[in-house]
Amino acid sequence: MGLVFNCVYLARGGGRFFDDLSLDLRERRIGLVGDNGSGKSTLLRLANGLLLPERGEVIANGRHTTQAGRGLHADVGFVFQNPDHQIIFPTVGEEVAFGLIEGGQTAAQARAAAGDLLASHGCAGWIDRAIRDLSEGQKQLVCILAILATEPKILLLDEPFSSLDLPTRLSLSARLARLPQQIVMASHDLDLLHDFDRVIWLEKGQVRADGVPSQVLPDYRAHAAARGALMLESGTA
Ligand SMILES: Nc1ncnc2c1ncn2[C@@H]1O[C@H](COP(=O)(O)OP(=O)(O)OP(=O)(O)O)[C@@H](O)[C@H]1O
Ligand SMILES: [Mg+2]
Repeated sequence: MGLVFNCVYLARGGGRFFDDLSLDLRERRIGLVGDNGSGKSTLLRLANGLLLPERGEVIANGRHTTQAGRGLHADVGFVFQNPDHQIIFPTVGEEVAFGLIEGGQTAAQARAAAGDLLASHGCAGWIDRAIRDLSEGQKQLVCILAILATEPKILLLDEPFSSLDLPTRLSLSARLARLPQQIVMASHDLDLLHDFDRVIWLEKGQVRADGVPSQVLPDYRAHAAARGALMLESGTA
């Protein structure tokens, strides 16, 4: 179970990016941190089979991601960093019900379950709302709920809370904390990761640090402060 990266090689933008990356991700809560472009989203996309390694292998919940397809996507849910990359349907109800229909429910059952799920997250009456009329944060919430609805065994969350208001962020993170599934979450909000089991700090496609949050997060904060100061000094910020 969990996610295994074995000697993964992947080029991005014409150059070597992940080179011989091996990771065994079995803890229940794993955070990914790192500067923009460090590889967090790329790692999550590899875990979900949206990207395939050029060499090496990625095994998610016992399944090679090369044998992707519906089975893998049912096991491994992925909340995209950008809701517009995730959302397929014109209405909230269709988006949230989609995974349930794929999982075998009838359209009527899926719509009822989607309505219940929305209502339990403070979104009663959203079922027929047009996605195009939602704010960024509202779209982000719909994306999270659409994935939660299918109860995947592994949840990959890419900056899932970046546009959410504080009440929604607090209630959703409390709910996520109670879920039994494995969660791998990329986040620039380090506070969300302080009680995770493990945090991996990526830098230019390499693991710069890997350990418990109390070790990795202070080191990453110190790096961020130093880098920010340098950017300010050199006029790049
Ligand atoms: N579609 C793409 N095609 C080619 N290269 C890409 C693509 N998306 C990202 N990259 C490159 O891959 C590298 C890793 O990007 P990635 O999106 O994984 O970073 P990230 O850590 O998620 O950053 P952020 O904090 O901005 O979300 C970067 O060098 C980026 O330029
Ligand atoms: Mg990213």
